[in-house]
Amino acid sequence: MLTIAVTTESGDEPRVAVSPETVKKLSALGATVRVEAGAGKRANFSDDALKAQGAEIVGSAAEALKGADILVKVQRPSPEEVGQLKPGAIVAAILNPFDDRPGLDALAGSKIQLHSMEFMPRITRAQSMDVLSSQANLAGYKAVIDAAGMFGQAMPMMMTAAGTVPAAKVFIMGVGVAGLQAIATARRLGGIVSATDVRPATKEQVQSLGAKFIAVEDDEFKQAQTAAGYAKPMSAEYQKKQAELVANHIKAQDIVITTALIPGRPAPRLITSEMVQSMRPGSVIVDLAAERGGNCELTEPGKTITTGTGVHIAGPINLAGKLSFNASSLYAKNLLAFLETMIDKKEKALKIDWDDEIIKGTLVAKDGAIVHPSLAPQAA
Ligand code: NAI
Repeated sequence: MLTIAVTTESGDEPRVAVSPETVKKLSALGATVRVEAGAGKRANFSDDALKAQGAEIVGSAAEALKGADILVKVQRPSPEEVGQLKPGAIVAAILNPFDDRPGLDALAGSKIQLHSMEFMPRITRAQSMDVLSSQANLAGYKAVIDAAGMFGQAMPMMMTAAGTVPAAKVFIMGVGVAGLQAIATARRLGGIVSATDVRPATKEQVQSLGAKFIAVEDDEFKQAQTAAGYAKPMSAEYQKKQAELVANHIKAQDIVITTALIPGRPAPRLITSEMVQSMRPGSVIVDLAAERGGNCELTEPGKTITTGTGVHIAGPINLAGKLSFNASSLYAKNLLAFLETMIDKKEKALKIDWDDEIIKGTLVAKDGAIVHPSLAPQAA
């Protein structure tokens, strides 16, 4: 019998790696889902709701882990937790694989089969397993909602007997998954929305959502997208032109949401303190790149500050987690789709195709060693 362990997340992580829906589907695949009591509580999944779909609720993490074939987590588990698994057990989580290398090596030392969900290849077949997208989409929405909450003015234009309330001007910087959802949300709230990115493919996407596209569209811009669909780091010359454009535009904006990232690098700096100073008092910046250093020079990760000139700057960490019910539901579905590739439906047992690019692409460690090419010792 295949056993899948689910334990309570550590620290202030409110998400959980299974939902009642995925417990039901995993059980139908022949697995026993063993959940530590209370693990779903902060996502509003009660033990009873999980149990009703077939989960076995146990009193401690140790009981859940003992003899389990698979451990699913949101955050990287601790070496102590993984040490309680049998050698060869499968572990899947959002590992932040480029952070804390000694910690990652310690996990590998437990001889588990370790998968990083962030390394999921961005191929059509793996779209349902793409955690970066499922979580970024929610973060993009929540960033706009939070910004609207902090902004001391209304979002939509209102014509009243006492006068007209102007619509808020919202600028989205970085139009990946989070940025696109931010545009859509800001439009729904009635904002006048503009957006920028360095990848040419985003121009049409921005316009199709009814927002204005603003960018330095030179030859470098035309080649800014990598084969994997991500942005390249831009030259100093491009960054200078971009900064001039942004400086002019940002002065007139009420709300700015920044989401710009480049894989494996610190977030590009797009908003200087002078630009912040040029904004009107009461304006709001929500910097979704805070976890990677921030797109705004003044961002303090994990904090919301107000500058001397009255501009509010939020640097939220784990914003998707604030919508813990939705974030957990979608993440659990991502994991379900991933685990399905490893389970033989007829035999109701593990069957791993080591040539599958989904397995190879996400595999970080096996048999005691780190095996992922982007985590080779020289890249550490
Ligand atoms: P991301 O989180 O890596 O970056 C966010 C955005 O910031 C990107 O649009 C990027 O171009 C932009 N950016 C980077 N440097 C910038 C700069 N200096 N100035 C302005 N903007 C800058 O991106 P995300 O959300 O992961 O999406 C990346 C790509 O992957 C997109 O093309 C997306 O459509 C694609 N994608 C494909 C999937 C699939 O095929 N399964 C699933 C999800 C996304």
